[in-house]
Order: sequence, then C-alpha cells, then structure tokens
Amino acid sequence: MAAASTHRASRPPVGVVEALGTAVPPHVVTNDDLAQHLDTNDEWVRTRTGIAERRFADPDTSTGDLAVEAGADALKAAGGDVDTVIVATTTPDRMLPGTAPEVASRLGLGDASAFDVNAACAGFIYALPVASGLVATGTADRVLVIGAEVMSRIVDPDDRSTRVLFGDGAGAVVVRSGHADEPGAVGPFDLGSDGDQTHLLEVPAGGTRQPIDDHAIENRHHFLQMDGREVYRQAVRRMVSSSRAVLAQAGLEVDDVDCLIAHQANARILEAVADRLEIPRDRCVSNVGRYGNTSAASIPLALADASLEPGQQVLLTSFGAGMAWGSSLMTWPDLPTPDPT
Ligand code: COA
Repeated sequence: MAAASTHRASRPPVGVVEALGTAVPPHVVTNDDLAQHLDTNDEWVRTRTGIAERRFADPDTSTGDLAVEAGADALKAAGGDVDTVIVATTTPDRMLPGTAPEVASRLGLGDASAFDVNAACAGFIYALPVASGLVATGTADRVLVIGAEVMSRIVDPDDRSTRVLFGDGAGAVVVRSGHADEPGAVGPFDLGSDGDQTHLLEVPAGGTRQPIDDHAIENRHHFLQMDGREVYRQAVRRMVSSSRAVLAQAGLEVDDVDCLIAHQANARILEAVADRLEIPRDRCVSNVGRYGNTSAASIPLALADASLEPGQQVLLTSFGAGMAWGSSLMTWPDLPTPDPT
C-alpha cells in the first residue's frame, strides 16, 4: 500500500475526466426535410455520408446557449464548481470577445478564467491537452472543457454539397488533476496542423483578411467552402497517422484499444479510419447518422454515446479545417450515476 502511494506520488499528475454533459437542439432535420429546398435526396446523403438526420438550432439559439446547457449538465454530474472554462468552437457567438467568459458567467462560475480554442473540428481534441496541462501544473483545479457549435449558421443553405453534412450541438467534460492509472486519465496527446491546406475548408470572409462586404456576399464567401474529396482523403490519412503516433507514444498496440472515437464527419471516413488502423468496426462509436458533423462538439457527443467499463482504453482522434488534427488516449472514466432530478 505504502509502496503504491509512493510510486503514485512520484509520477507527474495528468488530467482526469470526471463527468460528461451534452446538449443538442430539439429541432430534428431529416434528409427529406433538406430535399424540400435542395436538389438532393435521402438515398444520396445516406449512401455517401451515413447521415440520416441532424439537429439545427433555432434562430434565437447561439453556440454559447448550447455551451451553457452542456456545461451545466457536466457540472451537475461532477457535483462541484470549476475554476476554468474552455470553449472549443469555430462558430463563436461573436468575433470579439471569446464565447467562454460569458458561458462561465452564465454558469455562475464567478471570476473563473475562460477562453476559446479554435481548431475547427479538432477543437475539442486541442482543448483536452490544454485542460490537462492546466490541472497538471496546478494552474487550475478543475476545468470545464466544452465543444459547442452552431454549424448551421455558417453553412450555405443553398449549397447541397455542404448543407447536408453539418449539425449543431455541444458536449462537455470536467477535467481534474489525477494519476495516469486512474479511470478517466487522458493522454498522451498528438497534435498537428498544415496551414498550406487552409483553402480546402474555410469561411473566407468575416475575419480581417476579407471583411464581409457586397463582393463577399455575392461570392458566398461568408459561408463555408469545401473541397469535399480532398478533405475526405486528408481526414482519413491524418487521423490514422495521428492515432498511430499517440499509440506509439503510449507504447500500446491497436489490440489494446477497446474503443475508437473518431471525429464524426462521415460514416465512410469513420469506417476507413477503423479499417486502416485494423480496429474492428464494432469497437467504434458512430452517431453521425443522428447528428451529422457537429465539428468541435462531435467527440464529446460521441463520448456520451459510448458505454464502457471504467478503465477501458479509448482512442480519440479528430481532424478539421486548418487543416488541424490530433489524437489522445483516455481510459474510460468512473462516471457518476446520472441524477434523475
Ligand atoms: N445530393 C446530391 N448530389 C450531391 C450532393 C447532395 N447533397 N452533394 C454533392 N452532390 C453531387 C455533386 O455535385 C457531384 O455531382 P457532379 O458529378 O454532377 O458534379 C456528385 O454528387 C459527386 O460529388 P462528389 O464530391 O464526387 O461526391 P463524393 O463521393 O466525394 O462525396 C462528400 C461528397 C462531401 C460526401 C465527400 O467528399 C466527403 O464526405 N468529404 C469529406 C467532407 C467532410 O467530412 N468535411 C468535414 C471534415 S471535418
């Protein structure tokens, strides 16, 4: 006993996930609903993407609103306050300031430190090691990490090639300091980016490079533009190589992975990543059919759909605009039993 605690005390602390929360808007949009306005159909969307439906926020609901809801859900499960809030989003409430400070205030977290992380669809996977670093160094005691997006507001309602892919939602985890052998421990991490490929997936206007003016609106540059085929190719390649990198860092083999949670972009991408890693598909979480691609919310929403035993090995991997990608290992947390009230 004494030897074990000495061993523990000598090991550096890591981030440990102790609670999960989610929020999705109630409005379900099916492929048939979209086909009323766009030249598309249910069969095309299901075959190419595996997506059957997604949620769209109503016009009065912002990313911050969904973040507050998911954050409150996670805090309730954790049963206590946090002193730092990170909102991973690429659809912030406004250009300035970040969304996180207002979310922290609305959650009643006093003067908690709060900031946004924008790594697009890889946002949550970037925010997780940031949170882990903050608790491991004692900078924060407990961090609320929220991935939240209202993608429907930046996707062109008239562009069938992107409109069908994305959905809105939020997911959150609470991270505290702990030890690498505890259920819920996160890490190691692998992160990467390739800014030469920015043009493959971007909202060109609305920042300082191209303000939104008549020219931008005429060219639909205030909406998301995407080279779907190339993004597909890169998504598979980068999630596979990053997953291998993080497994190598941990000294683990694919056989050690009990569950793969990859960014829920498209069912075909999920299958290709699993197949190339040689992880059986029945060990992979897929909820893209219900939610579409919710960008930074996709990993925490998928975590909430995984049901595992505490201590089981989970591989998280994500990829998005930037291009930016990353992976993390995590042991399944000992989650509190949900409070029915
Ligand atoms: N309904 C019907 N037809 C559609 C359509 C839709 N919603 N969207 C595109 N099409 C058409 C195209 O216009 C094209 O028609 P054309 O041959 O007459 O020009 C045809 O379908 C094939 O398009 P293509 O782009 O070759 O299809 P694809 O098999 O590559 O699938 C995606 C398209 C977008 C589903 C696929 O490329 C993809 O999933 N890419 C990754 C996107 C992604 O995940 N992005 C986010 C990453 S974080």
